[in-house]
Amino acid sequence: MILVLAETDFLFEKVWRMFSQYRKMTYNNFYDRWRLSSKAFLIKIHAEFVGYVLITTRNEIGYLILPGWQNKGIGKKAVILLMQKVKRKYYWALIDNNNPFSQRLIKSLGFKPTAISYSWNRR
Ligand SMILES: CC(C)(COP(=O)(O)OP(=O)(O)OC[C@H]1O[C@@H](n2cnc3c(N)ncnc32)[C@H](O)[C@@H]1OP(=O)(O)O)[C@@H](O)C(=O)NCCC(=O)NCCS
Repeated sequence: MILVLAETDFLFEKVWRMFSQYRKMTYNNFYDRWRLSSKAFLIKIHAEFVGYVLITTRNEIGYLILPGWQNKGIGKKAVILLMQKVKRKYYWALIDNNNPFSQRLIKSLGFKPTAISYSWNRR
């Protein structure tokens, strides 16, 4: 499977909109952080867009693979390509406790857990 990170002039807003129906609501609070400072790449297999990866100026990475393309190693490969393309001294990701697949992906690349995020919701 040949996977390409498309160099594109797409604005982050457009990438975000393209995949908005697949994103869980909890990720909406990522928008501002990413919109202002990230470089997004579309993941392409043959002619088809199957997801995106992004990296912010503060070295945070984010990614999404479309449901029909998940669990085929594409997410992992795309993050590896991103780290080759955009070289930084370190990278980090913020991952929900209830997102085991994303945690598996990032751990399999050698990332270690470094913080616990506490949140509180007014009912
Ligand atoms: C998280 C996400 C990007 C993973 O992408 P992916 O291409 O499916 O991941 P990979 O195929 O590279 O697999 C990564 C690991 O998760 C496991 N996995 C992924 N989907 C799975 C599924 N449906 N069932 C069981 N295991 C699964 C893989 O087996 C692999 O584990 P391993 O390294 O121990 O073998 C994808 O599920 C997704 O886009 N989710 C919605 C958006 C999201 O959560 N983004 C991340 C925000 S932090």
